[in-house]
Amino acid sequence: MNILITGATGFIGSHTCVALLNEGHNLIAFDNFSNSDEKVLDHIKEISGKDFLFYNADMTDPVAMEKIFSENKIDCVIHFAGFKAVGESTQIPLAYYYNNIYGTICILKAMKAHGVKKIIFSSSATVYGKPAALPIKEDFALSATNPYGRTKLMLEEILTDLSKSDPEWSVMLLRYFNPVGAHKSGLLCENPKGIPNNLMPRILDVAFNIMPEITVFGNDYDTEDGTGVRDYIHVVDLAYGHVKAIDYVSAHTGTEAVNLGTGVGYSVLDLINTFEKVNSIKIPYVICPRRPGDIDACFADSSKAKELLNWTSELGIEDMCRDAYNAAKSIRQKE
Ligand code: UFG
Repeated sequence: MNILITGATGFIGSHTCVALLNEGHNLIAFDNFSNSDEKVLDHIKEISGKDFLFYNADMTDPVAMEKIFSENKIDCVIHFAGFKAVGESTQIPLAYYYNNIYGTICILKAMKAHGVKKIIFSSSATVYGKPAALPIKEDFALSATNPYGRTKLMLEEILTDLSKSDPEWSVMLLRYFNPVGAHKSGLLCENPKGIPNNLMPRILDVAFNIMPEITVFGNDYDTEDGTGVRDYIHVVDLAYGHVKAIDYVSAHTGTEAVNLGTGVGYSVLDLINTFEKVNSIKIPYVICPRRPGDIDACFADSSKAKELLNWTSELGIEDMCRDAYNAAKSIRQKE
């Protein structure tokens, strides 16, 4: 199948490119490198041993989008491109709405103009807001607590409206839980520009002495050890979820939302302790006040992914910690 990948050089996009190329799909990809590096393209090609067409393009540029669709026969789009930092989104909300919402509309208009009606969208467990119960099922009430989350929620609604307006559309909303880990080759990893916000990139910064210690945001949550619990999922497992989603959207129409998580929650201290154990390295931490907006616990009911996509996660928290550290070591050595 000919698949357009938006945001192809990002963390999840790059791992998904490898998974799709390994399955024999033909890729057309674009990115504007706003939070990634051109070298990622060579790494995707090196791991997969396959080539693909790439455009340095911005989704908010309708002329660039039209060019990509008019120069290629595209069967399906996997849409990763977007700003994703929760804290930043509260500081510069307009940039988030412009980039994520307007940019996606530019892609959708180009798709419509060229009769491309299959899309897999990178959504997030953030659309569940503060869930009423655990594990989280896809039919739970949706809400957002920050502008980033609202862009995900709005885009889910826009895509659902689009598929309601034309029964030929096939829309899959993949709600990721907490993606971590990296490719085993050490050639791909999460490499955010600037100071990272998420736990695993921060653990890596401590491991490489860029930061002295982890600030654990709260130990008074209603969880086993008092620290926040999340459903960490290995990015390679997540990438294979997209391979399965491609099979699904090829054979069905309408909209489906599917959780991609392991179904198991780990606390902040679980992640730090496992990282220390598997990598034989000390990660100092201090307990600090809660981070505003954080919830106690969040983990998926992943049964719909199994039923609809025949997908389950295979890699555990030890693989996530080991692969993240190994890849960060090899990427940092090259820089
Ligand atoms: N945490 C710390 N110290 C840190 C960073 C994080 O204690 O320095 C804690 C948080 O309080 C939380 C856990 O580690 O309990 C995970 O925090 P992350 O920032 O890594 O991830 P979040 O669960 O807050 O958010 C992530 C993504 C969002 C996405 C959400 C979906 O960043 O984009 O998962 O569940 F929406």
